[in-house]
Amino acid sequence: MTQYGDQALLVTGAGGQLGRLAVEELLARGATRVIAGTRDPETLSDLAARGVEVRKIDFDDGQLAAALAGVERMLLISTVAANRTQQQRAAVAAAKAAGVQHIVYTSAPNPRPNASVGGIADHYWTEQAIAGSGIAFTILRNHIYAEAVLMGLEGALASGQLFDATAGKGRAYVSRLDCARTAAGALLQAEGSAIFDVTGPAPVTQTEVAELLSQLTGKTITRVGLTPDQLRGGMLEAGLPPFMANLLVAFDADAAQGHHAIVADTVAQFSGREPQALAAVLAEHRQAFAG
Ligand SMILES: NC(=O)c1ccc[n+]([C@@H]2O[C@H](COP(=O)([O-])OP(=O)(O)OC[C@H]3O[C@@H](n4cnc5c(N)ncnc54)[C@H](OP(=O)(O)O)[C@@H]3O)[C@@H](O)[C@H]2O)c1
Repeated sequence: MTQYGDQALLVTGAGGQLGRLAVEELLARGATRVIAGTRDPETLSDLAARGVEVRKIDFDDGQLAAALAGVERMLLISTVAANRTQQQRAAVAAAKAAGVQHIVYTSAPNPRPNASVGGIADHYWTEQAIAGSGIAFTILRNHIYAEAVLMGLEGALASGQLFDATAGKGRAYVSRLDCARTAAGALLQAEGSAIFDVTGPAPVTQTEVAELLSQLTGKTITRVGLTPDQLRGGMLEAGLPPFMANLLVAFDADAAQGHHAIVADTVAQFSGREPQALAAVLAEHRQAFAG
């Protein structure tokens, strides 16, 4: 049994993809007092039937500290809203008021206040709020999900081209499942306060991604390197909303500076398994390549 497996362990956002996987991992690893927090408890009735305490947790709710009563350790899963900094600061303040003893937070690579993309600054300010709270913490800077590669698949298949502005630098893509297992492991085991990058086993360049996609689809897909402005222009022309084009270009700019190429052993440390390689994750999604 792991160290904190008998404590009250809360996973916020348990109705999301990562949260759900983290709850499953906690149960698989023998945690006895798992609390699944979600905005919509009815969607988690199957977990309640398996002995998980399901609570309504909404970071926009003014009564958040009461909802966290009795929680000893909390996995704070980052949200997706425009007011994310405000939401997550509220979650940290509520944790403090409720006497939570350890926060595990799902952050992102290289968070900073002056990032060109709002989402990265949100992670920075949340990390600051957690560190300033006096609560022990484990910051998990989850790198880009391996599954994110599938988002560009349709366009790449249609055109035979994979566009990017990463300047030939790699990304250590990590599977969502590895992130969930790592977060659950940190909730069960982590002590003190520390920051970790959560990465796959090796950086993968977009040329290599194109090769992988070619192998899996049987179609030739060629990587085309662009400047950030060219990439943004092409995305807007293809009909992407400006906020999404800006977001994707900013991620590529971060990759071009090497921020996504870090490799750390955090997945193995907290999950007890080696991280999946991108090729293995894509192979598991083979059905997405059909047609
Ligand atoms: N590393 C990456 O490549 C990557 C990619 C996409 C997103 N992310 C980040 O990682 C997080 C988890 O990823 P995912 O794949 O699980 O995303 P997801 O399935 O879209 O989940 C979104 C999460 O946000 C939670 N949420 C939304 N509004 C909330 C609120 N008002 N109060 C509390 N929780 C709220 C949801 O919880 P409930 O529905 O249960 O209330 C859910 O867990 C995302 O939210 C995002 O911050 C990372």
